[in-house]
Formats: sequence, C-alpha cells, structure tokens
Amino acid sequence: MSESALEAKAVSITFGGLRAVAEVSFTVPHGSLTALIGPNGAGKTTFFNLVTNLFPPDSGEIMFYGSSLRGRSPAEIAGMGLLRTFQTARVFPGMTALENVLVGAYKETKAGPLQQMLWLPAALREERRLTERATALLDLVGLSVYRDVAATSLPIGAQKLVEVCRAVMARPRLLLLDEPAAGLNDAETAELAALLRAVRDSGITILVVEHNMSLVMDVADQVVVLDLGKLLARGTPREIQGDRRVIEAYLGVEEETA
Ligand SMILES: Nc1ncnc2c1ncn2[C@@H]1O[C@H](COP(=O)(O)OP(=O)(O)O)[C@@H](O)[C@H]1O
Ligand SMILES: [Mg+2]
Repeated sequence: MSESALEAKAVSITFGGLRAVAEVSFTVPHGSLTALIGPNGAGKTTFFNLVTNLFPPDSGEIMFYGSSLRGRSPAEIAGMGLLRTFQTARVFPGMTALENVLVGAYKETKAGPLQQMLWLPAALREERRLTERATALLDLVGLSVYRDVAATSLPIGAQKLVEVCRAVMARPRLLLLDEPAAGLNDAETAELAALLRAVRDSGITILVVEHNMSLVMDVADQVVVLDLGKLLARGTPREIQGDRRVIEAYLGVEEETA
C-alpha cells in the first residue's frame, strides 16, 4: 500500500490562543481503514474540518491522492471524491430510509428530470439499479426491512447507520466518518463494523474518528492518536494498545494502577 489517499503535512490551526491542531503529519494509505483517536478536545473534528476546508489551516498542507486541497471549496473537495459525515448529522426528515440512502447517489443519476417524469426505460433501469444498491447497503447493516419506513422513526443508532450508508452510496474514494458509533448499541456497533469492513474491502479508503476502542481494535489497519492537537502516536492497533503514552493520555492513567 504505497499510494496515499490522504497526506497531512505539518498541518496547524490556532483558535484564539489555542493550538487545536499542531504540526500534524500522517498519511492514510490507499485502501486502508485508519482510525483517528484521542481524548475529547484533541483536535479530531477540527482536523476533519481542515481536510474538507471548512476553514483553511494556518500552515501546512493536505494532499488527496497527490493533489493539494489548498484553496479548494468544500463542494469541490466533495466532488473530488472526499466525503465526510458530521458528528451531529441526522437523517433527512420526510424521507424513508431507502430515500435517504438514494440521496447519496444523486450525482450518478444520468436520467434528466424529463426522462424521469416520462418514466423512460433508461430512467427506470437506472432507478432500479440504484434502488438495488441502496437496499443491499441497508441489508449489510440489517436495516433493509425498514427501507420504506420514515427514517426519523428509526432508533438513533439505526439513523446513524443510514447516514453512513448514504455516504457510501456516493462511492467516495475517501470517506471521513466522525464518531459513527456514538449512540449505537452493541448490536448496531457490530453492524457498523461489518459495514466498515465491507466498504474498505470494496476499495473505499476510510478515516474514522472513533471512541469505541474495541471497534477501533477490531476494524482498523492503522491507528493515529492525537492529544492536545499533537500527533501522539501512530501504529497498528496492537502497537497502539501497548503504547504507554497512549494509555496515559487516552485510556486513562488509572488503568496503570488497576
Ligand atoms: N471553530 C472553533 N473555534 C474555536 N475553538 C474551536 C473551534 N473548533 C474547535 N475548537 C476547539 O479546538 C479544540 C479541539 O476541538 P475538536 O476538534 O472538536 O476536538 P475533538 O473532535 O478531538 O473532540 C477544542 O478545545 C475546541 O474547543
Ligand atoms: Mg469531535
């Protein structure tokens, strides 16, 4: 895995006096599932905001498959195939679970509005193909039986899974997920793990912020640890699990005395 999907080069941003992200450098290898972990306030979401250029870094540069993201708008970055979900995102109300997932494919829809209105065969075929793919994604997370149910009527955990399916439906090259397991119960977390593995195996590179350590250890190829804006460690899940600095910063010093 020599090609980098994402390469952060000494990226920094300061808010007021606070260095939220400080000289962070790491790469996300193409085809990998990389977990970005760290205590609350470590700068993980801010890092995602810098990658998607919600605001530009004060210094440093981020490369996406060899192209600099500097000066590109969030929409342009999404158009390049770099998609994210938000920590607080929700499903679209007034739509079924299936329709929510189908929204992710809007860019793929080739049939124009007139074709769709007239139900021309090409439009029908396309609709059927996208519906099948969306249903298969919902099936992967055990939600296909709810595909025609209003998405907002689903439990929060299921809604979060629908959101991840929507992002995957867009077939990004790199998917950034911000705490997708927050609010999920154990069964839903297991569905999420299966989905993440299937997505990675389909060739989509994933960078995921996650607090659930057993999920991280279960699915990640690489773990990157931030603490107080700085890169604290980087390695395989096994290496990170045994890293004393990480245990102290993230897992809590009380584990040492336990
Ligand atoms: N837009 C902003 N303006 C000011 N401070 C911010 C902003 N975004 C984040 N921060 C601060 O930067 C630090 C890192 O936040 P964040 O990236 O959300 O952490 P994490 O996602 O790792 O929990 C926190 O101290 C937070 O309060
Ligand atoms: Mg966050």
